[in-house]
Amino acid sequence: MYFLFRKRLSFLFTFNIKNGKIRVQVTVLKLIEVESMFNKDFIFGCATAASQIEGAYLDDGKVPSIWDKFCEKENAIIDGSDIKIACNSYYKYKEDISLLKELGVKSYRFSINWCRIINENNEINYKGIEYYKNLAKECLNNGITPCATLYHWDMPQYIFEKGGLLNDDFSDWFSFYVDVFTKNLSDLIKDYITINEPQVIIFLGHRIGNHAPGLSLSNKEILLAIHNLLKAHGKAVKIIRKNVNNSTIGIAPCSRGVVPVNNNNELYNKCKEYYFSLRNDYEFPNLISIYSDPVFLGDYPNEYYEMFKDILPNITKEDLELINQPIDYCYQNVYSGDYYDLIDDKLTKLPFPYGYPEGNINWLQVVPESLYYIPKFLYERYHHPIIISENGICCHDSISLDGKVHDPNRIDFIHRYLNELEKASNEVDIRGYYYWSLLDNFEWAEGYSKRFGLIYVDFKTLKRTKKDSFYEYQKIIKEVK
Ligand code: NOJ
Repeated sequence: MYFLFRKRLSFLFTFNIKNGKIRVQVTVLKLIEVESMFNKDFIFGCATAASQIEGAYLDDGKVPSIWDKFCEKENAIIDGSDIKIACNSYYKYKEDISLLKELGVKSYRFSINWCRIINENNEINYKGIEYYKNLAKECLNNGITPCATLYHWDMPQYIFEKGGLLNDDFSDWFSFYVDVFTKNLSDLIKDYITINEPQVIIFLGHRIGNHAPGLSLSNKEILLAIHNLLKAHGKAVKIIRKNVNNSTIGIAPCSRGVVPVNNNNELYNKCKEYYFSLRNDYEFPNLISIYSDPVFLGDYPNEYYEMFKDILPNITKEDLELINQPIDYCYQNVYSGDYYDLIDDKLTKLPFPYGYPEGNINWLQVVPESLYYIPKFLYERYHHPIIISENGICCHDSISLDGKVHDPNRIDFIHRYLNELEKASNEVDIRGYYYWSLLDNFEWAEGYSKRFGLIYVDFKTLKRTKKDSFYEYQKIIKEVK
């Protein structure tokens, strides 16, 4: 694999003087294979999320989520689909884990559906807990470390009806669920991610409204929702530390690369500054520092207080301390980015030419350098080991005449992005990479129309077919072990 071994040449230089001239002869002696920065401790994993794969709509005591309700809205989901069955992983989890085993991953990142754990009467649903125990045991029995995301967007509908993120009790409701779950699973799951992509929860769910719960809130309300979400994170961290020995904890935001087109130092600094800025009073909930600064640095950025001085939520010193709980990793979901240059001294986004490689979704241009610059920017600001909690591409995959799924674009994507991540790992501390996703699944408002999986799912029969990229990722993992 080209990114697994860096070739190092060694040369023999011989000098001789002939007729008063110095002649230099260079002989290539040998090609040494240098071991990759992705050594055996590097975590290669795969990720999924409950609502996207589980199905089992109201089975075993599960209550409806905001996404169950959102799917009922006309035109909310592009193909009119819902998540009642999805990949049926609730019943097929053993098959899925055996595929993960064959793939050779060290860790499986899945999420816990809050709606399976606590019902509208605040009662604990032990059948839901049992399901996740079985899932975690199945992972462990197959040599795979489970990594659980506690909130991957499945807020119970009854919580939403009580005000959801706008209710100051949100963090306590979330804490109750986290306490129950982590107490019951403390022997089985040690690695936790509190919240997945707060940006998408807030920006798409509460600003644009094309994700559940479908709201378009004012900035004042958005700031409150963000603060309550961050408090929920902080409380969850404290609870996990109390309930689980030897836990590791993080939060998984997402970001888009602000990629310099060349090595100019000034350009690098301007890109980094722009990456962490709040930009304007529309885009700010979709960016990184409004969430990660309070989590890692203990306060919102200065810009936040300047921009919103008239509409700030009540932020106490205790809140900020709570949000700033020590955590272990800086997780990050990374898919795409944009190239920037300095034009007339101004940082300028460059347009993508027609035909530029991209996934079959409008925001996913192939910008592999995002996996070089984002980890560097994050590490330089937050000084925590980085784990890429999601990276992947959706392509127009189908079963070919030979019964196989040939997905060269995904293979190319994985190589290009890992190549950049490896480059970054020479400079900053990078501990892992999760491919999104194990299976084709429910891509939220896009329904089942976008296939991100290493495994093709026929949504009529639910049959799983390994794509070519499955075998390629398997090969990559094997070569590092
Ligand atoms: C991020 C989200 O966490 C995941 O749920 C989604 O399917 C992928 N990105 C692809 O859009």
